[in-house]
Amino acid sequence: MSEAIIEVNQLTKQFKSNRAVYNADFKISKGEIFGLIGKNGAGKSTLLKMIGGLIHPSKGEIHLFDHTVKGNHTYFERMGLLIENPGFFPNYSAYKNLELIAISYGLKNRKKHIFELLELVGLDKLNKSKVKNYSMGMKQRLGIAAALLGSPDVLILDEPINGLDPQGISEIRKLILKLNIAGMTILISSHILEELSKVATKYAIIHEGEILEIISTEELLLQCEERVELEVDEANIIIPLLENDLNINNYKVLTNQMIHIYDTHVENKQIINVLVENKMAVHSITKYKQSLEQYFLQRTGREGESFD
Ligand SMILES: Nc1ncnc2c1ncn2[C@@H]1O[C@H](COP(=O)(O)OP(=O)(O)OP(=O)(O)O)[C@@H](O)[C@H]1O
Ligand SMILES: [Mg+2]
Repeated sequence: MSEAIIEVNQLTKQFKSNRAVYNADFKISKGEIFGLIGKNGAGKSTLLKMIGGLIHPSKGEIHLFDHTVKGNHTYFERMGLLIENPGFFPNYSAYKNLELIAISYGLKNRKKHIFELLELVGLDKLNKSKVKNYSMGMKQRLGIAAALLGSPDVLILDEPINGLDPQGISEIRKLILKLNIAGMTILISSHILEELSKVATKYAIIHEGEILEIISTEELLLQCEERVELEVDEANIIIPLLENDLNINNYKVLTNQMIHIYDTHVENKQIINVLVENKMAVHSITKYKQSLEQYFLQRTGREGESFD
């Protein structure tokens, strides 16, 4: 069984009358890229801040590396955080900024470590220009380098692609995948499911502070895959006909009245013909396709709205 290195139970944060996160329950296993998806104000940053040890929960528990943590526990030190603004000194270089953080951590062998990190995130280690002149993408990559300074076991990235151009997004995506391949567990938030789906292995949908659904990439893609939804009287009698007469093998029986067919080589009318020839009732047959964003909007009760 995979090892859960983050587990939250009933995690809640109440800001006066505003309930930002309510009863969040989930586990993140070692090596996962866990995507937290939610629209503006859904509670993503608040949840990540609690897991990163930046704010105290109002209620609930956080278990890190199999230990229950309360307050400023050392287990929080094993988390590398990039939440909201990285807060660099604008008039210093990337190296100088990382050096200041490294000094505050009391790190030894600073130069070598910083050079390695700058190289890892794709920044020129000898670049003396001030961070204020960096592009947004470069600043984000520097933010990730800063989060990695303490050699964490988990990286928490809050909307790391927000405001980046397509090239910047692609660079961050490659960096996330590279870190993950090297063994890093990553918790990442976004409000764009399509983008998150290019890296995440599992997702939690958060809406108005509540986790609505936890879904794996395979399940999500299956939900959004083109399919024919076939409603019948008795699926168990129909399955042999689909398999033998139409060579349909990629299907899922949801109930004895509902079959989802993912094989795309067969037309709906061929399915109807075979079933009618065999005197089987067909209650409905529908082609179904939805995008990841439609799926997300449907789950958060905003189906039909456009997404920008
Ligand atoms: N320090 C705070 N005091 C009071 N309310 C807060 C505080 N921080 C967040 N909130 C409220 O909690 C809710 C969740 O905010 P949060 O920043 O966690 O959402 P988010 O999903 O990160 O949104 P965004 O996509 O805009 O970053 C919002 O209604 C927000 O106004
Ligand atoms: Mg936020």
